[in-house]
Amino acid sequence: MTAKHDWDREVVQKVVEEHQCKPGALLPVLHGVQDALGYIPEDAVTVIAGGLNLSRAEVHGVISFYHFFRTSPPARHMVQVCRAEACQSMKANDLVSHIKNRLGLDFHEIDESGTFGLEPVYCLGNCSCAPAIMIDRDEIYGRMTEEKFDSLVMRIKGDGNEH
Ligand code: FES
Repeated sequence: MTAKHDWDREVVQKVVEEHQCKPGALLPVLHGVQDALGYIPEDAVTVIAGGLNLSRAEVHGVISFYHFFRTSPPARHMVQVCRAEACQSMKANDLVSHIKNRLGLDFHEIDESGTFGLEPVYCLGNCSCAPAIMIDRDEIYGRMTEEKFDSLVMRIKGDGNEH
């Protein structure tokens, strides 16, 4: 696997240099670093603060204000379960309980091996096929059932030699 999750000073410096002369550079820099590394490592905050002439506290303040920003490496497979109304009305609560049990995770957690993470989302635009989930932020699955979810997990584990 590439060093996607590793702290990479050069990548962060490059992102900072691309934006540092623009007003309001902090948010584009944070997005750029997260896009490049998958998260914003603690040590990157020093580089970002230095490059943008901000304090570390200012950078931390923005990172913690926006839940979108991650400060730890993401799971290899992120499972997002819709918690909005149309899915709720199609027994999404039962599905959520099953998914939590199956993965051994609560929302906003990642398993110890870093294989699966679990997050709530609020409408995937797939309401007519509720309940819906998304995996790896690009594949939406509708009319999800406990059985279908279990086979997806088995397939992912099989494909990636995950254990
Ligand atoms: S409410 Fe779940 S996809 Fe829209």
